[in-house]
Amino acid sequence: MRLSFEAVSYSYEGAAAEKKRPRSKREARRADWGNAPDALWALLDVTFTVEPGEFLGIAGHTGSGKSTLIQHMNGLVHPTEGRVLADGRDLAEKGVAHEVRQQVGLVFQYPENQLFANTVYDDVAFGPRNMKLSEDEVDRRVREGLALVGLSFDELRDRSPFDLSGGQQRRVAFAGVLAMEPEVLVLDEPVAGLDPLSREEFLGLIRDLHGGGRTVVMVSHSMEDLAALSDRILVLSEGRVFALGTPAEVFADAAALKAVGLGAPAPEAFAGELRAAGFALPRALYDERTLAADIAAQLGCASAEEPSHG
Ligand SMILES: Nc1ncnc2c1ncn2[C@@H]1O[C@H](COP(=O)(O)OP(=O)(O)OP(=O)(O)O)[C@@H](O)[C@H]1O
Ligand SMILES: [Mg+2]
Repeated sequence: MRLSFEAVSYSYEGAAAEKKRPRSKREARRADWGNAPDALWALLDVTFTVEPGEFLGIAGHTGSGKSTLIQHMNGLVHPTEGRVLADGRDLAEKGVAHEVRQQVGLVFQYPENQLFANTVYDDVAFGPRNMKLSEDEVDRRVREGLALVGLSFDELRDRSPFDLSGGQQRRVAFAGVLAMEPEVLVLDEPVAGLDPLSREEFLGLIRDLHGGGRTVVMVSHSMEDLAALSDRILVLSEGRVFALGTPAEVFADAAALKAVGLGAPAPEAFAGELRAAGFALPRALYDERTLAADIAAQLGCASAEEPSHG
């Protein structure tokens, strides 16, 4: 599925006002909010496309509009101005939003806060049941969802999700979205607050899900994670698209990123310092391994080997 944002602007105040206003007053609303100061708009004139099968990272300072942006991707909120299209169909139409919601799985920030059922089973089964699947199919999906996130079906199916650890709760919430077998996975800071091992496991799972053909959109404050996983990175600043490109393109201008409260991934930032100190470091974007190898080569270390890139 191709998700296109066309000049999307979103104002929480405008959305609240819209709810109270009859449809025919649409033009009046535009006049009210079209001239509002920037501060009122959580998103401003956002245009980009999520291509089928890509891994799109989203970065931006706190309050830049990341969570607001991704909630547009399955019609949870609608643009105050502009359009979001799923394969050319407008998500503002109820029928389209309903359909797309089953294909675009949204995992919220701290999704464990949204667990609600009495048992792990019922929580994971909620989405598939809503899709009106047979109980056999629901059962298959609950088992598969839990297996994907590394939880034991037999041990946990009858447990209360509220008795689990925070990390386990995060997995249960994730399993609930995976059980809907969405074509597009949209993740809002999926590893925030996890311990290092759980982080690595989760990122590995996300990488595998993408490798299996899913489109992934991931919001993160970790430039290292975004650089390692993304095909392209969208950088938001104050509700606007500040940059959009490959990790190498986006992280090329460290000074510009710094101006919007971000930085390059740590190895790339260090490579910048080393270049300034006179090292010849030719790669466009360094990770720990490639940086170590190129420094070793520069210093003439006997064991220095050219690492395979990627
Ligand atoms: N429910 C709401 N009502 C009014 N304004 C809101 C609401 N939610 C968010 N905002 C405002 O919209 C802007 C964008 O918020 P958003 O949550 O999308 O940012 P974010 O980039 O996800 O931030 P963070 O990195 O902290 O999660 C902020 O100015 C925020 O204060
Ligand atoms: Mg957010």
